Amino acid sequence: MPTADIRTQWESAAPGWARWESTIATWMEPATEAMLAMAGVEAGARVLDLASGAGSQTLRAAQRVGAQGHVVASDIADMMLYHVQKNARAAGLTNVTTLAGAAEDLTVSAGSFDAVICRLGLMLFRDPAKALRAVRRALRRGGKIAVVVFTTPAGNAFMAQPMQILLRHAGKTLPALGRQ
Ligand SMILES: C[S@@+](CC[C@H](N)C(=O)[O-])C[C@H]1O[C@@H](n2cnc3c(N)ncnc32)[C@H](O)[C@@H]1O
Repeated sequence: MPTADIRTQWESAAPGWARWESTIATWMEPATEAMLAMAGVEAGARVLDLASGAGSQTLRAAQRVGAQGHVVASDIADMMLYHVQKNARAAGLTNVTTLAGAAEDLTVSAGSFDAVICRLGLMLFRDPAKALRAVRRALRRGGKIAVVVFTTPAGNAFMAQPMQILLRHAGKTLPALGRQ
C-alpha cells in the first residue's frame, strides 16, 4: 500500500485511538515500563518515540528524562501528533516536540538520540528494515532501541480472535505472515 494511503488510514483512526488512550496506557503499562528501562530512558536522555500515536508512552518517557532531557514523538499521522501535543500540554510537559513522517523516511541528524522507543508500531510498518536502518543512523554510538511488538497470531489470541471474526464478516482471508 502506498505511504499516502497508509497515512490516510491512520489519520482516520486517530480520533478513536486518542479516545481510548488512557485505557491503552493502563493496559500497556508493564510493557511500556520495560521498554523504557531497556532503552535506557533516564534523566537527561534524548529520546525518539517512533509511531507515537496519541503518545501515552511519549509522556512517560518525558517524565523519566525530566527537564534536562527531550522526547521527539514521530508519527505518520498529523492527527496523532496533534493529540501528543495536547496531552503533553495538559500534563505540563515542556520537553516534548513532534515530527511528522513515516519511520522509513526519518530525517534527523545522525547520532542525535540516546534512545529510540517504538510501542506497537514496528510490526505495522510497510518496510520495517528500512525504518530500523534510519533508527541506527539516528542513534548515537552505544545508544539503544527497545520496541514492543505483537507476536504471531498463534501466540496472540487477544488480537487474532477478533481479527478472525472481522475477516469472516468482511469475507476476507488472513494475509500471509509478513504481508499487509
Ligand atoms: C497501533 S498504533 C500505536 C501507537 C502508540 N505507539 C501506542 O502504543 O499507543 C500504531 C501507530 O503507528 C503509526 N504508523 C503506522 N505506520 C507508520 C509508519 N510507517 N511510520 C510512522 N508511523 C506509523 C500510526 O499512525 C499509529 O499512530
